[in-house]
Formats: sequence, structure tokens, C-alpha cells
Amino acid sequence: MAYYLGIDIGTSGTKSLLIDQSGKVLAESTASYLLSTPKPLWTEQNPEDWWTATKLTIKGVLKKAKVKGSEVRAIGLSGQMHGSVFLNAKGNVIRPALLWNDQRTVAECEEITKRAGGQDKLISMVANPALTGFTAPKLLWLRNHEPKHYDALRYLLLPKDEIRRRLTGELATDASDASGMLLLDVVKRQWSQELLTKLDIDPSILARVYESEQVTGTLKADVAKELGLSTACKVVAGAGDCAAGAVGNGIVKQGVLTASLGTSGVVFCHSDTPQYDRLGRLHTFCHAVHGKWHMMGVTLSAAGSLQWFVQNICKDLVAKKGIDPYEILTQEASAVGPGSEGLFFLPYLAGERTPHADPLARACFIGMTNKHTRGHLARSVMEGVAYSLRESLDIIGQLEIPIKEIRLSGGGAKSDLWKQILADSFGQKVCTINAEQGPGYGVALLAAVGDGAYKNIEEACKATIRVVEKLAPGKAAQKRYDAGFPVYRKLYESLKDRFGEIGRLDA
Ligand code: XUL
Repeated sequence: MAYYLGIDIGTSGTKSLLIDQSGKVLAESTASYLLSTPKPLWTEQNPEDWWTATKLTIKGVLKKAKVKGSEVRAIGLSGQMHGSVFLNAKGNVIRPALLWNDQRTVAECEEITKRAGGQDKLISMVANPALTGFTAPKLLWLRNHEPKHYDALRYLLLPKDEIRRRLTGELATDASDASGMLLLDVVKRQWSQELLTKLDIDPSILARVYESEQVTGTLKADVAKELGLSTACKVVAGAGDCAAGAVGNGIVKQGVLTASLGTSGVVFCHSDTPQYDRLGRLHTFCHAVHGKWHMMGVTLSAAGSLQWFVQNICKDLVAKKGIDPYEILTQEASAVGPGSEGLFFLPYLAGERTPHADPLARACFIGMTNKHTRGHLARSVMEGVAYSLRESLDIIGQLEIPIKEIRLSGGGAKSDLWKQILADSFGQKVCTINAEQGPGYGVALLAAVGDGAYKNIEEACKATIRVVEKLAPGKAAQKRYDAGFPVYRKLYESLKDRFGEIGRLDA
């Protein structure tokens, strides 16, 4: 029997899973680690923690599945996108990695846009505008703020590619993850020499770019021995967690979209051609499907908004033993009608990406009266996130990309109430599928393709992933959300100039 490992280097932990040739999940293992915030809006992690978690979880799944390591034929890697692993010439990590949700690089984004010759020119080179979360601004930040570290820099890798280096010794990446560095010519699927020159970045610090199912190397002898795997075990290029998660949801052809409710929320669509939003509101990246692309909108705090609400505003519920605070809140929120009786929530707890690339944006509850209760607040959080995802869907619609089916995924999509709110506010049917493992599953399938078990990823998804549930929008609720949506949109416009002022008050 042939087995395949999928490893996802996430923000809160690393998750590994093992599948067999038919795509059946045999075991999963997760190990968590911390995120450090040395200053407000800064987020960092130590790549050593990812490596420790990777080794632990690989050993964990092998033990649980009772599978011989020698039968694992290939590994797929996925991970949080955009993070910067800075390495010196000896291959040692120079300083902790800056993460996707780090907002320290506002000035570097301006510098990149200026050096590129303006936003339109930048988008024409790398298909995207400069956003604080992306990798290139992090590299310039190192050059501007830690010149000694910059002088020592020899390689710049993404999180999952650092794990690949430790597994195989190879410096490689895949086109989907590389797209989020803001240094890739996304149309040509190769590094943009033009932008690298304008930014004065040495191209030799970057890894070689592969397609997601391509084999980038095999395991190093010492690593194979420590993990109980074979030196013949291949490591395929894999994908950034958004593209990998989409593959895990079967989003490998035009017309099928996914809306995921993880800490961040992502609306993701496949595109056969490289299209981009001229206003730069959506990200246009290479897909993990060979030679294809995807566009996505990112709501930085999606299920993260509800988690914040539970952990900070509902501490009494969290403290009570034997109850699930989410269940109680869902009951209370279900008793409230669509629209939360005029209460809106803007989900900008960590600034925002789509459609407002605004690191200074702040979250708000707006429209409160003395009638509103905790249930209204909880419901409006879910509705605010749904409106935010609808903004991404609307932009995709404006680009004339067909939307035939929306698949929901992520932790938030386990809530029946939230799923219905999404169907009602999108005004469209939403579905859930049989595979729940997301990015790890997507890259395990890519590993199977790289090993030749399937002809391509489309065939692998067709054989393994199917829709299990469909939810239709309710007419009255849809009407209420259609009326609320334009008001929601205007709220950001009315408040955006205040957010900067609020931020400066206590700076
Ligand atoms: C995508 C993004 C996040 C991270 C989270 O652009 O920044 O979804 O990849 O893991």
C-alpha cells in the first residue's frame, strides 16, 4: 500500500495527516506553539518551533495509523503564507520570522510602491499591490531597521519551505506560496527580475519555483532515520495554505468557490487565466493546479472575531464548567432575527485586507439601542463577517468570474447558524463537503499526484471529494441582508478617517 503525508505549518500549530492511495484519512496529529507580539501589531514565530512540531506530528501520525514509515511514498507541505525566514550563509536562522498578520511594514509598502513606479506599475509586474502582510515589505523592513541582520542574510524562505530545507536540504518553493512574496511575476510564474532590480534585491536569496505537485527532493538520511521514514520518500512542492485548503475542498475548476471561516476568512476562486483586479482589492496568485491561477479576498478576522467575542466579552461563559460557550451564544443568536435589529459589526479587529487594505481599520459595533442583548451582539459578529466575505464575492462577480457553487470550510462552517447566515447574505446556495481537513489534505493529495497515484490534481479531487450538504437562502432573510449590505459598506467609508485618529490617541 502507498501512503502520503500532508503537513500544514499553521499559525497556532502544525498539523500532519496521513492518507492512503484512495484519499482516506488514516490519522491526524497536531502540535501547537506560541506566537510572540514583541510590540503592538508585530507578530513573530521561531522556525525551530515549526520544526519541532513537524517532527512530533509526523511521528504521531505514523504511530496512530500503525503504518510502516517505509510505505510513506511522498510528503506534501503547506503553511501559513507570507512569513519571512531569514537565513545566513551557514543556513542558520538570523532572527524570528515575521508573520502574515504582522503590520509593521506600512512605510516599506510605500517604499515598494514608489520604487516600482506606482501601484499600477507594481500590479502589472506582480499582479498585486504592496500589503503589509506580504513578504517583500518584511525584507525591506530588515534592510531599513536591522542592517546587521540584513548584511548577514543569504536566503529568504517561506515557512513551509524552511521545513522542506530541513527535510531535504533543498531550497525550493511553489508558485502559489511564492505569489504572496510580492516578488513573483504571477503571470509568468517566475521571479520578477524587473521588480527585484527596482528594489535592489539579489535574486540568489530566493528559492527555485516549482509547480505544486512537482518533486523537489527526497528526505536527508539523518532526517529519514530520526522520523522512521525512507530516504526514497519524495517531498513535493506543495502550496500556501490558502491554495492547499482550496485543493482540499476540491476548488480546482472555474465556477466552484470556497468561503472559509478560519481565524481569517478567505473567499477563493479558481481561474483558468491570470486575471487581476485593477484596484488591487483581491489577491491574484498562482494556484496549486498546474499552470492555473486563483483570486482571493481575505477578511483578517473571521472566526477570529467570534473567538475574540467569546474569550473577551463572554468570560463568564468560558469560566462555566460543562458548557460550550459557542453553543450558548448560538442559541441566543438564533433567537434574534436576521439583521440583529439594526446592529452592525465591522470585523476589523486586526485591520483589514479585502476590500480595504487598511492596517489601521478598527472593529466596531454600530447601531446599538437599549433593546440589544448578548445574542444580538453575537449574531451581528457572524453577520459582519458574512458581509465582509460578500464584499469579496461581489468583486469576483464584477470580474465576470462565474460563481456556480460556494463550498464552506473552516471551523466557523461547523455552525449551522453561521452557515445559514452565509447562504442568506450571499443570496446563494452554499454547500459543505466530505473532507474537513483543509490544507493538510490538499497537499497530501498533491503528494499522491507527485508520486503518480493520480494523473493530476483535478483527477485526485474528483476521486476523493464530494458535496454532502446544500443549504438554500431563505427569502425573507436574504431580503433583510440585501437591505443591510449597502449600509454596512457605507459604514467603513464614513469611519475610515477616524481610525487613524483613534490609533494616534494612545500612541
Ligand atoms: C493569506 C494569509 C493567511 C495566512 C494564514 O494571504 O495571509 O490566510 O496564509 O495562514
